[in-house]
Amino acid sequence: MKKILDLISEEMQQAFEKAGYKKELGRVTVSNRPDLCEYQCNGAMAGAKEYKKAPIMIANAVVEQLQDSQVFESVEAVMPGFLNCKVKPSFLTSYIKQMRAEDKFGVEEPKDPYTIMVDYGGPNVAKPLHVGHLRSAVIGESVKRICRYMGYPTIGDIHLGDWGLQMGLIISELRLRQPQLVYFDETYEGEYPKEPPFTIGELEEIYPTASAKSKEDPSFKEKAMEDTFKLQSGVRGHRALWNHIIDVSVTDMKKIYDDLKVEFDLWKGESDVHDIIPEMVSYMKEGGYAYISEGALVVDVKEETDTKEIPPCMILKSDGASLYNTTDLATIMERTREYEPKQLIYLTDKRQELYFEQVFRCARKTKLVKEGTKLVHIGFGTVNGKDGKPFKTREGGVMRLERLIAEIKEEMYQKIISNREVSEEEARTTASMVALAAIKYGDLSNQASKDYVFDVERFTSFEGDTGPYILYTIVRIKSILNKYTAQGNTVAEDFLKDVSSESEKNLVMEMAKFNTMMESAYEEAAPHKICAYIYDLANAFNKFYHETKILAEEEEEKKAGYIALLKLCCDILETCIDLLGFEAPERM
Ligand code: ARG
Repeated sequence: MKKILDLISEEMQQAFEKAGYKKELGRVTVSNRPDLCEYQCNGAMAGAKEYKKAPIMIANAVVEQLQDSQVFESVEAVMPGFLNCKVKPSFLTSYIKQMRAEDKFGVEEPKDPYTIMVDYGGPNVAKPLHVGHLRSAVIGESVKRICRYMGYPTIGDIHLGDWGLQMGLIISELRLRQPQLVYFDETYEGEYPKEPPFTIGELEEIYPTASAKSKEDPSFKEKAMEDTFKLQSGVRGHRALWNHIIDVSVTDMKKIYDDLKVEFDLWKGESDVHDIIPEMVSYMKEGGYAYISEGALVVDVKEETDTKEIPPCMILKSDGASLYNTTDLATIMERTREYEPKQLIYLTDKRQELYFEQVFRCARKTKLVKEGTKLVHIGFGTVNGKDGKPFKTREGGVMRLERLIAEIKEEMYQKIISNREVSEEEARTTASMVALAAIKYGDLSNQASKDYVFDVERFTSFEGDTGPYILYTIVRIKSILNKYTAQGNTVAEDFLKDVSSESEKNLVMEMAKFNTMMESAYEEAAPHKICAYIYDLANAFNKFYHETKILAEEEEEKKAGYIALLKLCCDILETCIDLLGFEAPERM
């Protein structure tokens, strides 16, 4: 379905043509003076020079051609030559009727629905998730949903950090604590126990202890490197222990991601590509891409047009060990083989920007990806506290994600029970839903690359540009619809009528922007555009609601028209919040 602005422009362009001017001049934009008009066209001014005419003469001639327009209610030529336009209610009605009739409110299917992979979450095994992991998960989940909605088969992969020195550190520390464990007996040939020799609590304490120790004690670090090597070369006991570490840690992570409604299609990790690294390395050597520099194997990735120094991409260290780069490149190779994606999107902290630039260049240069594959890194900013420093707990420690979620839920719960009489169970469920909206909207409404302040008070407020406000609006609409049906009526979804007030028109015009907005949210992988859209839409609805008697409307047809409009508005809002990764309760 065409974008509303394109339809309006087409009408204007025809008028220019009929009046004897080239149609390109008829491009219409949304008015920047909404007090004067809804849309405007400045083509008469643009054409003045070429046609050697005063702009107002051109404008007048164009207005002449629009007398019986089915699109414009009024077009005014204003000095020096602006065209100020208002659209016809009937034009809007037919537009939203078509939106209603279409599957995705007018979003068209892509001509080339290629596969997209989104690499997000990226937690490291055995390290607890903290607030820093929130953004990758939340933005990535939304980007994935947006791509899917737009008609692209999209695969989300968590890309666990499950293979590096951190694993060796844990194994070494475990050996010190429990040397008697069968995993350390290299002569052992039997089966290993099913039960892990540690709990998640212990695991989370072991890692930081071991990591600190390795910084002070070089011989411990030496051991940990040796254990990493043994693990990577497949020593049985090490692999068995490692499997326990992954199981225990992943089980714990899944709970938190579930709670956040973040769902991965693939739970692959760095370890999954270990076996194809040698093949990739020889491919890069044989292709003449990789060479030895100071003992390490590297690929040059600098380009003539670079304004800053882009260092070579290191494939193997001088001791032959692989790096973060190596697993990422091998993962690209594997993903290409397995899924043939035409676009790969990565979400990490923006400090990894240069890193991804190197990896992408290397992947293109070495042809690990097919020509034309889009490689995108979305680098996001930091979550700060009100003091402008990275968000901490009240006591000043690192804020674990689990705790953050629990605190917001509690905050919402208190608000809900102080608002109305409600059962404990319902209050808890509602609180969870609203809390999720508060957290996700608080994050997603910012442009990803910017830092933002995690302001609990603001995010959980029912007023302003917040998740709870959006949910509140949806709940308000649902309650009107429920009352309407409770009175024995049925909602006739397509019974959309011409608007009869300013606020109703404004609401309809907001709704009509949906496909335009979605296209740019997709193209720029920008969930914040959806947030901005639903905030405007919710405001437009609430203004209409406050100025209009809906259920009290006496004319049944008019009332049914309002109800159809509300239903469409509600469906659009709910689609949008689903794309952001949260949902609305029935009551609040
Ligand atoms: N585990 C990594 C980290 O903590 C993030 C992984 C991001 N994804 C990737 N393909 N490199 O920094």
